[in-house]
Amino acid sequence: MKKDVILTGDRPTGPLHLGHYVGSLIKRVELQDQYKTFIMIADVQALTDYFDRPEKVHESVFEVALDYLAVGIDPQKATIFIQSEIPQIFELTVYYMNLVTLSRALRNPTVKNEIREKKLDETVGFVAYPISQAADITAFKGTLVPVGEDQFPVVEQTNEIVRTFNRIYQTDVLIEPKVVVSHTKRLPGLDGKAKMSKSLGNAIFLCDDADTIKKKVMGMFTDPDHVRVEDPGKIEGNMVFTYLDAFDPDKAEVEKLKAHYQKGGLGDVVVKKRLIEVLESFLKPIRERRAEFAKDKEQVMQILKEGTEKARSVAAQTLSEVKKAMKLHYF
Ligand code: TRP
Repeated sequence: MKKDVILTGDRPTGPLHLGHYVGSLIKRVELQDQYKTFIMIADVQALTDYFDRPEKVHESVFEVALDYLAVGIDPQKATIFIQSEIPQIFELTVYYMNLVTLSRALRNPTVKNEIREKKLDETVGFVAYPISQAADITAFKGTLVPVGEDQFPVVEQTNEIVRTFNRIYQTDVLIEPKVVVSHTKRLPGLDGKAKMSKSLGNAIFLCDDADTIKKKVMGMFTDPDHVRVEDPGKIEGNMVFTYLDAFDPDKAEVEKLKAHYQKGGLGDVVVKKRLIEVLESFLKPIRERRAEFAKDKEQVMQILKEGTEKARSVAAQTLSEVKKAMKLHYF
């Protein structure tokens, strides 16, 4: 085992999709063998945006846990836990709030984008989520954070907080994390929008059944100018090829299809049928494992409970070091 500590998480606002897989899950499965790994189901962070839908957050905690287990995150290797059960995180958040100016908080590009895209109110809670995320990461002394590209500015804000904290309190208790990039670039949505996202309605979920996958692929954005089969078609911005690049194990065949498509004479439906097969053979084992775990909710909750207890004791240790550095120890 190497010295680094992996800390990452997801907001439980629904089941996870292919974008999560490509952007981060695949990397976590790979890293859990080499590093001490903590994976957080960030229900409190989910509430910064879903505060009026607590049932949705509650039920999604289980869904996300199933997705983790289904893709191969192994509770023997990785500690999976629920954020709201770790009060130390929220205590740290309060201390860190003093170290971030309001203008800095409002300037975070990820926060700004999310507010615009999801048409959110600029609540104090939402704007402060990167501060709370700094607490998520530092509570576990996370050094590596595997997240999608859109989260890079959030981790950058963590690093600023760590540096400021260590400077002001003349300590080295907090550690600056690095982001871990996954193999593939961000997966766009089915509609060709920059990001696959549940709220944009352009996602394929890890738990989608074969029929749903078929329907979603048939409706995917291709080349709007490719009207007749004989016409030459474009690959750039053509989602079917973007997804084949990401998921088809037979790269040579994909290259052949691309050449044929560009020359003309290859219909969208043929390429889409191939993508349906490729996605189905990728998702079928995941879906089956997921269904197996779903049958035994008690076992899944037990995994979360044990993970949460372990996580809490790690966070408590960090909190006591932080409080000492801040001269908050009296008895
Ligand atoms: N903000 C992350 C997302 O929306 C989820 C998250 C919460 C997270 N806490 C974290 C990611 C800590 C990495 C580390 O995807």
